[in-house]
Amino acid sequence: LGDALFAYKGAVFPVSDQHELTPEYIDSLEHFKIKDSDVFLFTFPKSGTVWTQRIVTLLYEEDFPVSVDQNPFLCMPWLELLRKGYDYTIRPSPRLFCSHLQEHLVPRGLQEKKAKVIYVYRNPKDVMVSGFHFSQFKFLTEKYKDIDDVVDAFLSGRCVGGNWFDHVQGWYHNKDKYNILFLSYEEIIKDLRSVVLKIAEFVGKNLSCAAIDKIVEKVTFKKMKVDYDMSHFSPVKQTVIYLRKGTIGDWKNAFTVAQSERIDKVFQERMKDFPLPFIWD
Ligand code: PPS
Repeated sequence: LGDALFAYKGAVFPVSDQHELTPEYIDSLEHFKIKDSDVFLFTFPKSGTVWTQRIVTLLYEEDFPVSVDQNPFLCMPWLELLRKGYDYTIRPSPRLFCSHLQEHLVPRGLQEKKAKVIYVYRNPKDVMVSGFHFSQFKFLTEKYKDIDDVVDAFLSGRCVGGNWFDHVQGWYHNKDKYNILFLSYEEIIKDLRSVVLKIAEFVGKNLSCAAIDKIVEKVTFKKMKVDYDMSHFSPVKQTVIYLRKGTIGDWKNAFTVAQSERIDKVFQERMKDFPLPFIWD
């Protein structure tokens, strides 16, 4: 996989000198002790992670000693991207984590069904386009030359998160083992307030209408673009733009008909009879 990525147990991870991301650490996560009050957000990269992270941290704002605006990445870190010098096992409760892990690698304690799991998925064409643009900013991880390059990597699973089809299918087909809420990026776009309410109800945060309205205002694309495009928050201390376009169907501006049909063919094979809805435009 080159210098930027490494594969382990059917998944793909970035090589990073900012994190303790080793096969041993990934193995240890299976036994990461889960607390009933934990909330985990799982996604394939570029599927709405920072958006949902923002919503969840705002719902838990009263539980943090510092303002969540100061650093959402610290309030809700990526489980597998253990920052050097940190120990995620000793975080105070309630603990919030993001993760791009596939289902077979996550802490087994989540299967006691007490901790909450949120899984957000997005139509894979927009995931690819978002990943292509993001790769132009990121350092140390994949860099795509052009759209063909990202499509090749995605369809063969040579990208952070691993194989998208395995990721989505693995989570969906094992859903009954978890206390899990499935959401699509597109439904968040289409009805933001309803999704904020849905997440609040799922995690057991009974907030007033006014408090919910305030959160909704803070997580619109426009507001988050200002507040959350956080070179200053970023764990990698580089300019990384997480909020780019925030739309459904940008793939139509990026793919040729041939590229789009190539993806459709694999999608139809791999996602045949898959019950969750996909919104493409
Ligand atoms: S990452 O790097 O995996 O954590 O990226 P991730 O956060 O999963 O995905 C980034 C895309 O999510 C879009 N985004 C939003 N869209 C609409 N509204 C809000 N508030 C919002 N926040 C993030 C972001 O723009 C990326 O999608 P693209 O298509 O590149 O714009």
